[in-house]
Amino acid sequence: MVTLVAVSDAPKKGGTSSSEKISASETVPGPILLLGAPGSGKGTQGKSMAASWGIPQISTGDILRENRARGTALGKAAEKLMGEGKLAPDDLVNKMVAERLAQPDTARGFVLDGYPRTLPQAEWLERSLAQRADAQRVDGQAETTVPALAAIAVNIRVSYTELLRRITGRRNCPTCHRIYNVYLKPPQVDTVCDVDGTPLVARADDVETVFEERMRVYDAQTAPVVEHYRAGDRFIEVDGERPADEVAAAITAGIERFRTEERLRNLF
Ligand code: AP5
Ligand code: MG
Repeated sequence: MVTLVAVSDAPKKGGTSSSEKISASETVPGPILLLGAPGSGKGTQGKSMAASWGIPQISTGDILRENRARGTALGKAAEKLMGEGKLAPDDLVNKMVAERLAQPDTARGFVLDGYPRTLPQAEWLERSLAQRADAQRVDGQAETTVPALAAIAVNIRVSYTELLRRITGRRNCPTCHRIYNVYLKPPQVDTVCDVDGTPLVARADDVETVFEERMRVYDAQTAPVVEHYRAGDRFIEVDGERPADEVAAAITAGIERFRTEERLRNLF
């Protein structure tokens, strides 16, 4: 097995390698797992990556909130746990992800935002992606559509103090789901969305006490997931305290480098 070199914050500088001669537009992103603490910028980066590559951003937190708003059985099962800053049960979340990944818009790739966040979720996802790859090979689809690519994990690193500022300042547009921040990215006019004028809202779990519990849960259950992927051969870590466009550029450069090297390996 060939191990690709893990990519750090900065895109590779100097010189043009053979891999860099392939244009970015040729990149098929495949499965991307966005990891990071509450408020690290997963949603912000996930939306930007989805727009650049034309692939879906799948946020387990957003799907749970939509279910909560519609009063479904899933939403009711998760509501209390979310309000307390605890995780929803693995089997519920895995089932939700399985249903979403079965949609045809995931064929070229997808960004999983906030999933997996326990080791059992990571194991389930790896089995599920392996089965998906096998099914593609059996169907002979790999030749005609998209090759089955292994997942790349991206960890967005941000300090506790900055996370707290981001969480307490965050406001969301309930119509178009754009993310704002009263300190860092305020809307142009008062507290309404720049695009559709909808009054912005704060999430119920974006208060300091719940944030502290979310961080305890993150340290206990999700930090081991980050270490699991760090020990693997497709892991990117970025400094999430840089401006959002610089974070996006670092992530894109890392993903393109992995995918280009994979493509070149298959060519020779
Ligand atoms: P979820 O909705 O996933 O919340 P989270 O992980 O706590 O992350 P956030 O959405 O709070 O932050 P983010 O990283 O997306 O940051 P954002 O881009 O918004 O999960 C909520 C709950 O659902 C969980 O607590 C759990 O109960 C349940 N759940 C979800 N997934 C689950 C799973 N897999 N298993 C079990 N339960 C699950 O940015 C934050 C703010 O910072 C914004 O205001 C933004 O404008 C600003 N910002 C972002 N980037 C920058 C930057 N570079 N510079 C300056 N400001 C920035
Ligand atoms: Mg989010």
